[in-house]
Amino acid sequence: ATARLTLDPAFRIAPVEPRLFGSFVEHMGRCVYTGVFEPGHPLADADGFRTDVLELTRELGVTLVRYPGGNFVSNYRWEDGVGPVRERPARLDLAWRSLEGNAFGLNEFMAWAAKAGVEPMMALNLGTRGVAEALELVEYANYPGGTRLSDLRRAHGADKPHDVRLWCLGNELDGPWQMGHKTALEYGRLAAETARALKRFDRDLSLVACGSSNSGMPTFGAWEAETLEATYDMVDYISLHAYYDPSDGDADSFLASGADMDHMIRSIAATADHVGAKLRSRKKIKLSFDEWNVWYQSRFHGESSLEWAEHPRLIEDDYDVTDAVVVGSLLITLLRNADRVGVACQAQLANVIAPIRTEPGGPAWRQTIFHPFALTARYARGEVLRVEPECAAITTGKYGEVPAVWATATHREATGEITLFAVNRDRHGPCALDVALPAGLVAVEHLELADDDPSARNSAADPARVVPRPGTGLRVESRRATLTLPPASWTIVRFA
Ligand code: AHR
Repeated sequence: ATARLTLDPAFRIAPVEPRLFGSFVEHMGRCVYTGVFEPGHPLADADGFRTDVLELTRELGVTLVRYPGGNFVSNYRWEDGVGPVRERPARLDLAWRSLEGNAFGLNEFMAWAAKAGVEPMMALNLGTRGVAEALELVEYANYPGGTRLSDLRRAHGADKPHDVRLWCLGNELDGPWQMGHKTALEYGRLAAETARALKRFDRDLSLVACGSSNSGMPTFGAWEAETLEATYDMVDYISLHAYYDPSDGDADSFLASGADMDHMIRSIAATADHVGAKLRSRKKIKLSFDEWNVWYQSRFHGESSLEWAEHPRLIEDDYDVTDAVVVGSLLITLLRNADRVGVACQAQLANVIAPIRTEPGGPAWRQTIFHPFALTARYARGEVLRVEPECAAITTGKYGEVPAVWATATHREATGEITLFAVNRDRHGPCALDVALPAGLVAVEHLELADDDPSARNSAADPARVVPRPGTGLRVESRRATLTLPPASWTIVRFA
């Protein structure tokens, strides 16, 4: 197959928002305990943070981390996780039927985030709690001192306010699995009143209203419309969540997951704009894609199948080459929508459907999906360019016809550098790609994720089985580059 595209700095979509390279740390399975936090591990620092995981987090290029859930947050009492550790209560976490010892809480997370160099994004419990508890948490976290709760934080060793700017008004409250699940009417009212109070505390806080848990929910679209009608003037973002699952065996649809994510983004943007039009508002609500990833959901048999345990091994998916190609294509999709998506978080950071895996007391390693994330976060800089490949279509069972090549590019005006990110969704053959370029550019790097064995994975024993490898056959002439995209592959080319 062949494809053509043009990289032209005149066609800009929007600046690359650093918050697109977010991740997610939930109190779930081994994401926190024995993931980012493991006192007693040979590589733990004085705070009990695994320095190997900290280093990998920095290498991954994560800019922002959402915390503490997820489903966990909807029955969480933040007060349990602050103050002297020996006085913190053990609790039942009903979301994951786990035992929560609370050795890690708000102040530990903020200390970890500072070491990792990431912005914190906090989620509030609007499942089993409400406006008062949200206000108390924000006062504890953000007020400098001189009030009961801000002085309590200082007494707990955090002298300076954490100054968290980005807050989620609950998590997936449309889902019946959520503790404190609500109708859109109930949620919209609660989110609006919480937002109104939080903005009274600090009008510059950025607030995220919960959208649907996934696009298959019966209320998808309607939930967002009703929620935004109640909250439009007080919130900045509406959330989207999507997980893609290869385990039904439909590899063509799986490789086209970016087409579904793109459709979802356009649908929710249109829904938000429809509400804005009805309200005669010129304000644009941005999208927070604060949970996305590949997740082999069929291997998870539901919360009620779980036995009470402390940090059990939950949804520790082992990712292969195809999964990494799909993750690369989802990042391409987020960038293509950079004019509307302002926040995005891959779920999750460590062990739980994660790019970073660890063993308790043992090593940490990069899963296959680590690589497209790290390279995109490192090199997607400047402005996103509008890139429209001309190519053949692939017919998929779930999404109909999709373009075989999915691509985006970024341009740094200061240096003239252009970086191309491209996926060949065709499993059956390579694609000869012809790229029209501005004059004077040469290729400085060309890497691919592809393998003769698309099911190859990394493991503790073989952590570098799958890594990006230099691509071959790239030729750059005046204003033109040609290269071959291998079957089912992800490619980055940097022109400077
Ligand atoms: O990331 C795993 C879970 O997926 C989160 O807790 C929840 O928000 C979503 O359903």
